[in-house]
Amino acid sequence: MPANPITKAIIPAAGLGTRLLPATKAQPKEMLPVGRKPAIQYVVDELQDAQLRDILIITGRRKRSIEDHFDADPPLVAALKRAGNEALLQDLAFLEGRSRFFFTRQSEPQGLGHAVSLGADFVENQNCVVALGDSLIGGENPDAPLRAMMNAHLSLGAAAIIAVEIVPPDETFRYGIIDVGAMEPTPGEPMVVNDIVEKPPAGTEPSHLAVAARYVFSPIIFEALSRIVPDRQGELQLTDAIRWLVRMEQPVYAWLLNPAHKRYDVGNFESYYRAFIDFALADERYGYMVRKYIKALAYEL
Ligand code: UTP
Repeated sequence: MPANPITKAIIPAAGLGTRLLPATKAQPKEMLPVGRKPAIQYVVDELQDAQLRDILIITGRRKRSIEDHFDADPPLVAALKRAGNEALLQDLAFLEGRSRFFFTRQSEPQGLGHAVSLGADFVENQNCVVALGDSLIGGENPDAPLRAMMNAHLSLGAAAIIAVEIVPPDETFRYGIIDVGAMEPTPGEPMVVNDIVEKPPAGTEPSHLAVAARYVFSPIIFEALSRIVPDRQGELQLTDAIRWLVRMEQPVYAWLLNPAHKRYDVGNFESYYRAFIDFALADERYGYMVRKYIKALAYEL
C-alpha cells in the first residue's frame, strides 16, 4: 500500500535573530525583504509548490508581522481590484487558499528542537517537513529538492531525511556536520547517516557536509525530542534528536542539494546581502536594472 502523501510542514521562525541587530530589534529576521518578498514568503512558496497543504509557523515575541503577512486582507484586495492593479493582485496570490496557515508561539527561544517539538499535536502522528524560516533555496523550481526528499522518505521508509550542502573546511565549525562514512556524496542520492555533530571544533569534522535547513521526518522525531536534554545554553537541539534517532538505529539519510539549488541563510549580514543581491538580479521585473547598476558600479570598485 503506498504511504500517505506528506501534507504538513513546520516553519520554525521564533529565534531572536541577534546576529542581524539592529535590523531585527523590532521586526523578525524572517520578514526582512529579499528582493520584493520577505524571506519567509520564499519558504512558504517553496512549501506550497511542493503541495504541502498545512503549514505551521512557530513564532514568538515581536513576530506578529509574520501572522499579518499570511492573513487574508479583503480590504486591500478590494482596493487593488477597484484600481485594476493586476500585477499587485498577482503578487498577493499566495494568500488564495493554496494552504492553511497555523501559528503557535514559542514564548522563549529554547532552541530549534524545542520549536519543532511544539508542532507535535499539529503533525498528528504523520510524516512532516521542517523548513527553517530564515533559509531560502535559490534557482529554478526551488521546491524540487523537497519534493525529491519527500518521495525518497516515503519509498525508503525513513525516520529522517536531512538536506545537506558542502561547505568549505574552515567553515564546518559553524554547522551541524554529517558523518556518512566513506560514501561519496552525490546530489540527489540518499546517504545513510552514521552520526551528526553540532559545530565540531576545527579539524575534528567528520565531513564537509553541513545540515541545510530542510528536513523530512517521520513522527518518531517527536519521541526523540522528548528523550533528549537541553544543551549547556539550555536549548533543545534538533541535531541531538537526530543523533538519538541514529543511536536507536533508525533509518536516517542525508540528501545532498544540487548546486543548482543554492541555499541562502539570511541569519547573518554577509549571507543576507548575498541573498538580496542574487534574488534582486533574478527578479523578472527589476532584475535587468539591478544588473545594469552592478555592472556600472563594478567599474568603480
Ligand atoms: P538560528 O540558529 O539562526 O538562531 O535559528 P536565531 O536565534 O534565530 O539567531 P541568532 O543566533 O540570535 O542570530 C535557525 C532557525 O530556527 C529558528 C529561527 O527562527 C530560525 O528560523 N529558531 C531558533 C526557533 O524557532 N526557535 C529557537 O529557539 C531557535
